[in-house]
Amino acid sequence: MPENSKKTFYITTPIYYVNDIPHIGHAYTTIIADAISRFKRLSGYEVFFLTGTDEHGQKIEKAAAEKNLKSIELADSMVLRFKNLWKDLNISYDYFIRTTQSSHEKGVQKIFKILKDKGDIYKGTYRGFYCVSCENFLPDDTPLEVGGDFKLCPDCGKKAGEVSEECYFFKLSAYQQRLLDFYEKNPTFVRPKSRMNEVLSFVQKGLKDLSITRTTVKWGIPVPDDTDHTIYVWFDALHNYLTGIGYDWKKKLFEKFWPANLHLLGKDILRFHAVFWPAFLMAAGFSPPKAIYSHGWWLKDETKMSKSRGNVLDPQIILTSFGPDALRYFLLREIPIGLDGNFSHEAFIHRINSDLANDLGNLVQRTLTMIDMYFGGIIEEIGKESEQDKKLRLEFDYVKNKFFKYYEDYSISRALETVWGYINSVNKYLADNEPWKLAKDKSKRERLARVLYQAGAALRVICYLIFPVMPESAQKIWSCLGEKNSIEKEPFSEFSFDSFKSCQKIKTSKPLFPRIKLKDFLKEGKMDIITFDEFKRLDLRVGEILKAEKVEGTKKLLKLEVDIKTEKRQMIAGIAEEYSPEDLVGKKLIVIANLKHAVIRGIESQGMILAGERDDGSAVIPFFTEDIKTGSKVR
Ligand code: MSP
Repeated sequence: MPENSKKTFYITTPIYYVNDIPHIGHAYTTIIADAISRFKRLSGYEVFFLTGTDEHGQKIEKAAAEKNLKSIELADSMVLRFKNLWKDLNISYDYFIRTTQSSHEKGVQKIFKILKDKGDIYKGTYRGFYCVSCENFLPDDTPLEVGGDFKLCPDCGKKAGEVSEECYFFKLSAYQQRLLDFYEKNPTFVRPKSRMNEVLSFVQKGLKDLSITRTTVKWGIPVPDDTDHTIYVWFDALHNYLTGIGYDWKKKLFEKFWPANLHLLGKDILRFHAVFWPAFLMAAGFSPPKAIYSHGWWLKDETKMSKSRGNVLDPQIILTSFGPDALRYFLLREIPIGLDGNFSHEAFIHRINSDLANDLGNLVQRTLTMIDMYFGGIIEEIGKESEQDKKLRLEFDYVKNKFFKYYEDYSISRALETVWGYINSVNKYLADNEPWKLAKDKSKRERLARVLYQAGAALRVICYLIFPVMPESAQKIWSCLGEKNSIEKEPFSEFSFDSFKSCQKIKTSKPLFPRIKLKDFLKEGKMDIITFDEFKRLDLRVGEILKAEKVEGTKKLLKLEVDIKTEKRQMIAGIAEEYSPEDLVGKKLIVIANLKHAVIRGIESQGMILAGERDDGSAVIPFFTEDIKTGSKVR
């Protein structure tokens, strides 16, 4: 097929709010999009994968003010966090859109104007209740709370205050029938199906016109020719799906990729995407997207992980200890995309140990090591194919078909389950054929070669199947099998069991997925997050060491006298092997002043000094090198 006639596939994630750092929930949507993008690329599509950040609105304005920052400063720093996380997670996005970039702002203003000129946007007065956390207007029938001046948001449960202001409305009511007709013609527009039903019944109940500007919020895109008004953050944000592929600034790209094939999003923002978004598009004369997939939530202790609940898990912590593929695999394998899942340390360890360390890891280790050990890394003559060998080869064709069907249906968890079924068949094949026994008998050398060839060939095709979810590991195994090219260079259409060449030089590898112990995980992964209020309870201060002496009869302990301004404290610290008393006197460092006193070797310790720990367990104390008063607060 000539390059320019490739089929296209345009996939998006929601654009993320920049009021706080990314968590597992954000990583989840993006990882799903990445796995689908990689699958589509291998299937021969030209993919455009868009992600980005949603930077306007009251929520960001408020978060920035709380941190004493300008809104754009907060946004810039968060954009870096998001981009770094996507890099560490191997996210292969094609473009990162920011709603504060001028190409986006101009595009939104242009569409606003088109709709206004057409009469789909008109001026009026809005009176109602607004939830800042969801950036959403509450339905009229939400009851007033006692006291009468606020309502509770039915989506997040937070207080929503009353607003009454002049604004522009979008004539959503005029699109009710067109939306219903569209859903009827495209019954799989929203997936999973249960969510399509939710959307249908919402629209059937009747649609009211939508307020799409604010006068009290300044952090946003000004309404063209009426700059007292700012465009409502959702009207602004949804249009990123157009501006992100060049609407109004890269015509060819835009024409090539619109309409989007798939918008991925969490169930909390389904209505905006399945109702408002197609209506905006219809009004402006664009085709609606082809499909919307709404996934479930990651919960922690059975409640949705979210910043405001203070129960978020920072993916960076898991990534540092276990690498991107373990996290990607866990999130995509553990729950089917439409359902909610509870994130627990135990489930994570269990999944990684059993599926990655045991099943896949052992297969890789055994196969590579035996080819290296028995054949110096190159199998020259492969013996005849037996019935059992043929079965393993044919099973792959069956697995490949199922795998494709599941991916086309975005059932990634089922696709992985199928691949692991095959991994287990190959492990069983090795156990049944016992190559380690064949190796002891010279007359069985030909059979040994065939058995190991089979395992190598199976491993090679497994690399393909795991690649969309575990690109780094797949590529490592692929290279160990002697393949020179990157795995992405070989499209799915051309890969088969027999394309493993027997004469390739096989390399061994370190275990790809070492087993994890719960103890290590809790220590390394330190996933228990504390809130800022909890942190504030620590009384951290600058202390000055006045005296230091060794504790008799111990190798490691020093007794210190530390001045913390309000008093002098005696502290016992395990630093005698690294520091001698004379190194310490006069130095200033950080101490925890409100730690419960403890008795160590019969001596009372009235606080603790802070130190870093090297790999060998030895301590390094961060001393202040700049002038600072004893007793100053540490924050
Ligand atoms: N800015 C809007 C989206 C605008 S798209 C035009 C927004 N941002 S968000 O940062 O709050 O959420 C972005 C995505 O992260 C949503 O799809 C949301 O469902 C997802 N998640 C946030 N927390 C989540 C979990 N705990 N679990 C899974 N995904 C969740 O909404």
